[in-house]
Amino acid sequence: MLKFFELELFQQWFFEYTSRFTSIDPEYTRNIVLKTAHTKNVCKEIIDIASSLGLNQGEINLATAIALFHDIGRFEQYNRYQTFADHKSENHAALGINILKENLILENIDPEARDLIIYSVLHHNCAVLPLKAPEKELFYARMIRDADKLDIFRLVIDYYQNKEGTQNVALELGLPNNNEISDFVISDIKAGEIVKIQNVKTLNDFKLLQLSWIYDINYHWTFKCIKDRNYFEELFESIPKNDKTTEIYSLACSYLENKLSV
Ligand SMILES: [Fe+2]
Repeated sequence: MLKFFELELFQQWFFEYTSRFTSIDPEYTRNIVLKTAHTKNVCKEIIDIASSLGLNQGEINLATAIALFHDIGRFEQYNRYQTFADHKSENHAALGINILKENLILENIDPEARDLIIYSVLHHNCAVLPLKAPEKELFYARMIRDADKLDIFRLVIDYYQNKEGTQNVALELGLPNNNEISDFVISDIKAGEIVKIQNVKTLNDFKLLQLSWIYDINYHWTFKCIKDRNYFEELFESIPKNDKTTEIYSLACSYLENKLSV
C-alpha cells in the first residue's frame, strides 16, 4: 500500500518542513516542540493499533504516514495565529492538506494510498465521522482518531499534573480555569455522547470533553491502552469532585469496562 522508502521520504520532508518553524519566543518554541513530539508519539500509537488489527507492512506504512501528516497544519496554524483553537483560527486538518498539496508531497504515490491519507487527515478532527463513506476510508480514519486521542490523553494529563510548572494558554484554548462546569456538558455525557465543542465554556468543561472521547474510541487495543495506562483516573484527578462529575466519571468508566468485556 505504501512502500517503506516512500514513508522515509515523507519522514525526511516532515523533519525539514517542521525545522523551519523557529522563533526566539520560548512559548512559540515550546508549542512547536510539543507538536513534533505529539506527531512522533501518534506514529508509535498507530503502529501498535495497526499491528493489533493484523495489517500488513504496506498498510502499517500507510497508517504511519497518516499519523505523520495528521497535524501537519498545526505548525502553520500556530505560526499564523498563535493558537491551536480551530474555531479562533482555521481548521488545521484542511490547512494541513493544503500544505501537502502545495508542496506536492503526495504526487508520486499510489492514488489509493493518496486518497486514504487525504481522507483520514481531513477527518481526524471532525466531531463525528460521516455515516456514509467507503469502509476503507473509515477504517484508516478510525485508526488515526484513536491514535491521536491516546497521545492527547498523555499530553494533557502531564499538563494538568503541571509537570512543567507553567501555564500554556494554547493547550487550554484560552478557556477560563475556574470551578464552573456547564450543565450542557454534563447532559451530553449522560446521553452517551461526545461533549459538543460549543458547550465548552471552561477548562473543566474541556477536561470533561476529553473524558467523553471514550464514546468515540473505535478499537479494542485503544480501550485497553486507556485502561492499562490509568488515563481516566488521572484525568479525573484534575477535575473538581461533586455528585455530577462523580456520576459522569462512573458512567464513562462503566462504558470502558463494557467495551473491554466484549
Ligand atoms: Fe494530533
